[in-house]
Amino acid sequence: MRKKLIVANWKLNGNWAFNEVMMSELSLGLKEVQWHDREIILCPPAIYLQQLNGLMSDLPILFGGQDVSEQFFGAYTGEISGQMLKEFGCRYTLVGHSERRVRHQEKNELVALKAKTALASGLIPIICVGETLDERDSGKMNAVIQQQIQSVIDCLKSDIIDVVFAYEPIWAIGTGLTAKVDQAQEAHEFIRGVLKNYGELCAEKVSILYGGSVKADNAQDLLEMPDIDGLLVGGSSLISAEFLAICLSRLNSK
Ligand code: PGA
Repeated sequence: MRKKLIVANWKLNGNWAFNEVMMSELSLGLKEVQWHDREIILCPPAIYLQQLNGLMSDLPILFGGQDVSEQFFGAYTGEISGQMLKEFGCRYTLVGHSERRVRHQEKNELVALKAKTALASGLIPIICVGETLDERDSGKMNAVIQQQIQSVIDCLKSDIIDVVFAYEPIWAIGTGLTAKVDQAQEAHEFIRGVLKNYGELCAEKVSILYGGSVKADNAQDLLEMPDIDGLLVGGSSLISAEFLAICLSRLNSK
């Protein structure tokens, strides 16, 4: 049974007052909901994890980091370890977000190591993969994604079964351009095919989320696709009404 997730990536947004308002609005919107096997995961700037944990009360929300160090401890200024995220209530962490790959030159091998360290720290890594518009237009999309996934498989071996992938076409992130549902489904099917090379069970068990300009009005259609197991939401996760509507689409879909 694959996990059905809605993940909010707040990026470099939020502050003490905003967080309070957001949590009380989410609390109101989610209090009657029977969430069953589905999970909502909030990835705020790590410095706010403690505050947000305190505001959680009985909300069906889990926490995640936006990134994690590939190191466990030591002289690595500015880094946050998996153990630290765990201690502050995280169950998940994003790794390899395209903003880290592009702006911080994180290569496939580093992303794979981060996923490995996250697992060793008791966190579930949500590993982001996806192509640029140039790569898509020049027909390199599948090769790029395959390489991103293969690096993780090479590093994690049989532990690959315990991760989550997020397909985020870079051209759709924060641009308002969403992949059409059939484009997204096609990419997800391709990713599942790559995982199948590692075994049927792996392909069956690993959840693949879609991310890139997800909004309330496209969430449901994306979630109806057979290989889309959840959503990774950036901008829309900062607007409570929008994010609540996306969470409720999850409940209404397959
Ligand atoms: P977006 O961001 O929803 O604002 O496009 C998604 C992401 O970067 O994870």
